[in-house]
Amino acid sequence: MKLLWRVLCILVLLAQAVFGNWWNLAAPRSVSDSGNSSAETITTLHKENCHRLEFLVERQKQLCTLSDKMIQVLQTGAEQAIEECQYQFRNSRWNCSTVSSPNSTDIFGGVIRYKSREAAFVHALSAAALTHAVARACSRGELNECSCDSRVRKRTPRHWQWGGCSEDIRYGEMYSRDFIDSKEDKNTDEGIMNLHNHEAGRRAVRSRMQRVCKCHGMSGSCSVRVCWRRLPQLRAVGDALITRYEGASHVKVVERKRGKNIRKLRPLHADMKKPNKTDLVYLEDSPDYCEPNEELGILGTRGRTCNRTSVGLDGCRLLCCGRGYQTRVRDHEEKCRCRFVWCCRVICDLCRSKRDHHVCN
Ligand SMILES: *[C@@H]1O[C@H](CO)[C@@H](O)[C@H](O)[C@H]1NC(C)=O
Ligand SMILES: *[C@@H]1O[C@H](CO)[C@@H](O)[C@H](O)[C@H]1NC(C)=O
Ligand SMILES: *[C@@H]1O[C@H](CO)[C@@H](O)[C@H](O)[C@H]1NC(C)=O
Ligand SMILES: *[C@@H]1O[C@H](CO)[C@@H](O)[C@H](O)[C@H]1NC(C)=O
Ligand SMILES: *[C@@H]1O[C@H](CO)[C@@H](O)[C@H](O)[C@H]1NC(C)=O
Repeated sequence: MKLLWRVLCILVLLAQAVFGNWWNLAAPRSVSDSGNSSAETITTLHKENCHRLEFLVERQKQLCTLSDKMIQVLQTGAEQAIEECQYQFRNSRWNCSTVSSPNSTDIFGGVIRYKSREAAFVHALSAAALTHAVARACSRGELNECSCDSRVRKRTPRHWQWGGCSEDIRYGEMYSRDFIDSKEDKNTDEGIMNLHNHEAGRRAVRSRMQRVCKCHGMSGSCSVRVCWRRLPQLRAVGDALITRYEGASHVKVVERKRGKNIRKLRPLHADMKKPNKTDLVYLEDSPDYCEPNEELGILGTRGRTCNRTSVGLDGCRLLCCGRGYQTRVRDHEEKCRCRFVWCCRVICDLCRSKRDHHVCN
């Protein structure tokens, strides 16, 4: 049984070498460097390097070379996705940890190869982060093929006018669809799941676009109001997606043979709600995140800091998976008795105290 498990894991690892994803761009070194082993960071790389990123499929390589700065925009998107994922999962058994492998295996280890809720979240967030990064780069004038959204001005409102730079969410979505979705095979269950979650991620950005306005006119009279559309903070998108993650739908793929094969997602159990386009969907239960699993890049929860009084995920009972925890007393320092000194400084004392610190066994 154990041998079978190992063989399966090795197969998973082999598959990853081929299927590693674009979010590997967030790894400090993700270009396989022929011959020269000196650390080369991708920020210094030019678009010629797009073709050396072996975790990209052909279409993605093409899209990567569109603009000189596209490779940096892709990298920014990947980094922001991972940063946001780690923030959202900071209290969970799996904390969105990445493996720092210099070669081409997936940056998440193998854990996202499971068709789990966590994979659903990561796919949705990465599609959202790429939409966001591309649209932002457009409005900053960093890309050749897009700039501010001028279409938005065609609708003329009554009490204000369009002006400034509206961020081009449509281009961001289009690019994200073309780039990220091109990797998925819609004839496989996993492909159908990933495509659904990508779209849910992009919708989470689009539905949070904001209109911001500025007043102009004599002494703040606001006789002229100028407005433009702005992207939401990625944090707001992450917050929305983590709520979707918590209510994610466990689904199965069903085939309808009516002339040609149509494959659709349906709830696993008939009494569950049918997911709509903004819901996250998953096909498999999560692997065990309690114990370390080197092959899958799971670190386990030993050594994690837990909260003794919380009954939530960060509470010691859940986070430590019933193994118990140890309490250590730690010196804690914080600024205190702060006061304002004329003019213009704030002076604080440094207060020391002992604090209990709980760590999972
Ligand atoms: C590797 O790169 C470093 C600096 O980037 C350079 O000094 C060195 O000559 C290169 N080595 C080879 C084998 O190309
Ligand atoms: C990745 O690198 C590690 C050592 O750095 C090596 O043991 C492993 O075989 C490499 N994996 C692949 C797929 O090249
Ligand atoms: C989709 O379903 C969620 C609940 O799972 C609900 O909050 C949301 O309003 C629905 N969205 C649409 C567009 O129907
Ligand atoms: C995740 O948890 C591990 C311990 O299981 C810890 O070493 C690591 O620093 C954590 N990573 C993040 C991003 O919090
Ligand atoms: C621990 O959990 C309690 C209850 O949920 C909360 O009030 C407290 O702020 C948490 N402490 C830390 C250090 O996060």
